[in-house]
Amino acid sequence: MIAAIAAVAANGMLGREQWLPWDIPEELAYFERTVAGAALVMGRLTYASMDVVPEDSFVLSRAADLPLRAGCRRMPDIESALHAACATGKQVFVIGGASIYAAAWPYCRYFYLTRIEADFAGDTLLPAAIPLADWGLVQERQARYLERISGQSVNCRFQVYEQGNPRVLPRRGYG
Ligand SMILES: NC(=O)c1ccc[n+]([C@@H]2O[C@H](COP(=O)([O-])OP(=O)(O)OC[C@H]3O[C@@H](n4cnc5c(N)ncnc54)[C@H](OP(=O)(O)O)[C@@H]3O)[C@@H](O)[C@H]2O)c1
Repeated sequence: MIAAIAAVAANGMLGREQWLPWDIPEELAYFERTVAGAALVMGRLTYASMDVVPEDSFVLSRAADLPLRAGCRRMPDIESALHAACATGKQVFVIGGASIYAAAWPYCRYFYLTRIEADFAGDTLLPAAIPLADWGLVQERQARYLERISGQSVNCRFQVYEQGNPRVLPRRGYG
């Protein structure tokens, strides 16, 4: 079962200067809790932004000689990465960034999306092409947290969307 997880601001921002546009520890803790023990699929820039990357992390890059930390494998395309992650037998989470969500969403059964209900400056947007409005909203809870850069409290909606008929991964080998 393949899922994606992202947090997005009201103005669609996902990222800023290779990190998140906001500083909300509770939101980061939710992400860490949700993906704990899973096989992770991520883009090369998201990988580079993380201090700690768990084993069974699959990193998308077209650079065959990309040096990676122990427990990580480079994958040349999204289908190979998802096949390899599924082969671990673990829950699979696609954790971004934007280019990886754009390539992976057709294969995802669930999309965990935290909507942070304020605008933030940034340089990376959640791809508008992901048709979440057509997916079912199967879980939602809200909480207010302090955003530490602005000093303002923000409302966060922790949503889970379900796609009725995710695309089946094409049968193929992976590297
Ligand atoms: N808010 C959130 O939930 C969230 C989650 C994750 C990331 N982010 C933020 O998003 C930003 C990074 O996102 P991004 O979209 O710029 O970068 P990214 O998706 O993390 O990485 C992009 C790189 O991945 C590789 N890649 C992408 N698509 C590929 C494909 N189809 N096949 C093979 N390789 C592929 C390429 O690497 P090569 O150049 O090596 O070929 C590309 O340069 C950061 O600011 C990060 O903090 C936010």
